[in-house]
Amino acid sequence: MQLNYHILIVDDVTDNIQVAMNILKEENYDFSFATSGEMALALLDENSFDLVLLDIMMPGTNGYDVCRRMHSDPRYLDIPIIFLTAKADVDSIAKGFELGGVDYIVKPFHANELIARVRTHLELYKSKALLKHHNLSLQVKIKNKETRLLSELEENQKEMIFVLTELMESTSDETGKHIRRVAEYSRLLAHHHRSISEEDANVIYHASPMHDIGKITIPEHILHKEGPLTPEEFEVVKTHTISAHEFLHASKRKIMKAADVIAYEHHEKWDGTGYPRGLKGEDIHLFARIVGLSDVFDALTHKRVYKEAWSVEDAASHIIENSGTFFDPYLTEIFEANLDEFIAISKL
Ligand SMILES: [Fe+2]
Ligand SMILES: [Fe+2]
Repeated sequence: MQLNYHILIVDDVTDNIQVAMNILKEENYDFSFATSGEMALALLDENSFDLVLLDIMMPGTNGYDVCRRMHSDPRYLDIPIIFLTAKADVDSIAKGFELGGVDYIVKPFHANELIARVRTHLELYKSKALLKHHNLSLQVKIKNKETRLLSELEENQKEMIFVLTELMESTSDETGKHIRRVAEYSRLLAHHHRSISEEDANVIYHASPMHDIGKITIPEHILHKEGPLTPEEFEVVKTHTISAHEFLHASKRKIMKAADVIAYEHHEKWDGTGYPRGLKGEDIHLFARIVGLSDVFDALTHKRVYKEAWSVEDAASHIIENSGTFFDPYLTEIFEANLDEFIAISKL
């Protein structure tokens, strides 16, 4: 439904208001009127207008003042103001335009002049409002599209990390599910940890697949050797933590930074007997302690080329027995309290 344009006529002489209304009434507009500047401002506050016909010479707040006030308030800034006045001198006209009037009509005026000018400014006002509305909805559409695209990209990248690291691990773990299970155990530990937010629990989930990404640099014959490694070969295997760190440390991205500390420190042990740096206790990053424990539990409960799978009971006992030596005691507490869930994940 097209609503009529609403025009505010401001003049301290009611006869002048009547004249303007009589001329414009053919056009099917709605009218409000004010006989003072103060009254005009009060009406503006309560109604929405499409145009203001404004007399200049009024006692109290004059037309210029009203115009000034309207232009300092964003609610009224766009409403076109046509001065309708007996002040015909050049300076008054110039001042009217300077203050932001869109037009200036000198009394006495011809009826057709008023009708034409009012119609022109109303149409202009409507077109500008439409354009503004279209621009806004276009901006919203673009923003929504960008957001959708970004989250799609983000999800793709997260998925890609899983796919690539699973592919990498699938050569040493028949099912390639080790990656997925370690991510699940890690998120579970993080979720129950008193000082880890849900957001960080998810960061750990998405970063943990990269814990062994450095193994790409280990020669095949050492990485997949059946049976025990020589001390020299073990030294080579240890470097997978350092080489991952060298590749990951430069990133400023949250998940990549987490992947860096996890890959670098997941073989450190609580008592300082781990590698590569022999870090101790809380000097080992919490994310790495979490993934380290998860990695050991999963490696124990599944078959590898160099060993058979342990029972979940034996693996759980190993973790609990090594609380405070290999593992963070608080994490082993969480592990023990949620053992059922760990066992369920180990069967994925
Ligand atoms: Fe590792
Ligand atoms: Fe692993």
